[in-house]
Amino acid sequence: MAKARIAVVGAGLMGHGIAQVFALAGHEVTITDSVVASLDSAKARILTNLKDLGEDQSALARVVPHVNLADAVANADYVVEAVLEDLDLKRKLFGEIERAVRPDAILASNTSVIPITQIMGGLQRRERALGTHWWNPPYLVPLVEVIGTEWTSQAAIDWTIKLHAEAGKTPVHVKKDVPGFVGNRLQHALWRECIALVQNGICDAETVDTVIKASFGRRLAVLGPLENADLVGTDLTLAIHRTVLPDLDRTPGPLPYLEGLVANGKLGMKAGEGFRTWTPEQQSALRARVLQHLKKARESNA
Ligand SMILES: NC(=O)c1ccc[n+]([C@@H]2O[C@H](COP(=O)([O-])OP(=O)(O)OC[C@H]3O[C@@H](n4cnc5c(N)ncnc54)[C@H](O)[C@@H]3O)[C@@H](O)[C@H]2O)c1
Repeated sequence: MAKARIAVVGAGLMGHGIAQVFALAGHEVTITDSVVASLDSAKARILTNLKDLGEDQSALARVVPHVNLADAVANADYVVEAVLEDLDLKRKLFGEIERAVRPDAILASNTSVIPITQIMGGLQRRERALGTHWWNPPYLVPLVEVIGTEWTSQAAIDWTIKLHAEAGKTPVHVKKDVPGFVGNRLQHALWRECIALVQNGICDAETVDTVIKASFGRRLAVLGPLENADLVGTDLTLAIHRTVLPDLDRTPGPLPYLEGLVANGKLGMKAGEGFRTWTPEQQSALRARVLQHLKKARESNA
């Protein structure tokens, strides 16, 4: 694929990392943010990451910040949005982007869970709009879910998948635009059961995490659930499901236990307490452990 001109809208946690991946792949990247401090820090954050990962620091020269949105997207082949997870903001922003881009530019949203149909529904040319759901940190977690709507052209999907594959990511095609796509549906189906186990007094929060990390969590990176089902046999899987599934939580909305935590200000690490209590040292240690693990996984895949 020829080198492309990529515009990243939103220079926060995800946006600066996405810009980094595309710049490292040799593309020309513009980046913009409505908050000057975020835009100003984007290149410094990328440089810190490149140094930390031992990557080519000359890639930084391919990232050009623009204060003005229209300037950032005007010449782009591909625009990816990574602003706050707010439907109204994203809809409004894509309206502005569409007025400033070339008619053939592909437009992508990095929303975590909002259906792309809702974000892109007001556009004039909906055939070039899609979702690309990255995972944090974008330069360490391989997956990018590429989500088409009923309007998205196959050509836009194919081009976007190729762009990400050639940038070293693992793109997958999500064929129907459902809330949470594939990854966050799976993740939060598990989280609901985790919370239900605590809510129902089966075990405490620490035990839930220990059970996962010390058992099937160890295998998950190399053995997906459906590979696992084939490994043990679909007949055994069926027998297990007949016994266990009727007992699993099926509450259609958030569980009362989670609602209670939030209502009581137990917002997690930022408040020092959520499902568990967290000292600043414990928080830093956990963040460092996750980063270390992801870096090692990346090296062993390289
Ligand atoms: N953090 C994650 O783990 C993660 C993972 C996957 C997807 N996402 C999604 O990516 C998106 C960004 O998340 P984040 O974690 O990077 O958030 P963030 O808060 O770190 O960054 C968002 C940035 O958007 C900027 N912004 C706000 N309004 C803007 C506007 N009108 N124009 C330009 N910039 C604007 C903010 O100033 C901020 O710098 C969200 O939709 C989120 O759901 C996040």
